[in-house]
Amino acid sequence: MARSALLNVMVQAALKAGKSLGRDFGEVQNLQVSVKGPGDFVSTADRKAEKIVREELLKARPTYGFLGEESEEINGTDGAHRWIVDPLDGTTNFLHGIPAFAVSIALERNGEIVAAVVFNPATDELYTAERGGGAFLNDRRLRVAARRALSDSVIGCGVPALGKRNHGKFLVELRHVMGEVAGIRRLGSPTLDLAYVAAGRFDGFWEAELAPWDMAAGILLIREAGGFATDWDGGATMLESGAIVAGNEIIHKALIEVVKRPVPAK
Ligand code: IPD
Ligand code: CA
Ligand code: CA
Ligand code: CA
Repeated sequence: MARSALLNVMVQAALKAGKSLGRDFGEVQNLQVSVKGPGDFVSTADRKAEKIVREELLKARPTYGFLGEESEEINGTDGAHRWIVDPLDGTTNFLHGIPAFAVSIALERNGEIVAAVVFNPATDELYTAERGGGAFLNDRRLRVAARRALSDSVIGCGVPALGKRNHGKFLVELRHVMGEVAGIRRLGSPTLDLAYVAAGRFDGFWEAELAPWDMAAGILLIREAGGFATDWDGGATMLESGAIVAGNEIIHKALIEVVKRPVPAK
């Protein structure tokens, strides 16, 4: 698998940040943790990882814009490129010693995601994709799962945390999806959930109220693995609306119908 120079820059940044996270993982007593809002934590590990990624990416491409969860947005001067970065997706898992978290780096060119890197330092799994070049887990080419029936499928989801608005709506979605599928999983990192869809581990995924950095890299991984990742109307507004559904062509379509099913009349 030949990687472009640009993808290599992204991989090096993700590995370097991942190394820092790996050192901090399990050392929560040595981290400063603050609360951004209800159920929403940030630690010195998140901030260190973002600083590393930001410095590496801007050193290599100083004219590109930068949107990261933990630092101020940079508009960029070339007018076409923007990095979208979650330095630690799954902070709550990380702070609880649960090895499901990842560094996520995506590159947008003229509004299209063209390159993606996701790295979980706890499992040493590195996901990469470039538009038109396929998606990979370490050196293995990825393909979304081929299952055609929801009743055979394992579907990932996000459970809205304390402070999110959509608890009632989510419970309706959950009840409807539970009635159709073989199993539901909740990893606590939408970045990894989407990577799992790309890898064929999950057959599908849905979540709402996400930020662009939770999804940007995972969307390209799925497309390059032959899958679909759209908003809940089948459109491309995910980064703006925060709502996403993913899967192969058949599961994606079926899952949209189920998650949007109206509340039954009493
Ligand atoms: C959060 C987690 C969580 C998701 C939230 C995200 P963070 O990201 O990925 O699973 O449901 O919407 O904000 O804060 O761990 O990067
Ligand atoms: Ca956060
Ligand atoms: Ca996140
Ligand atoms: Ca984060």
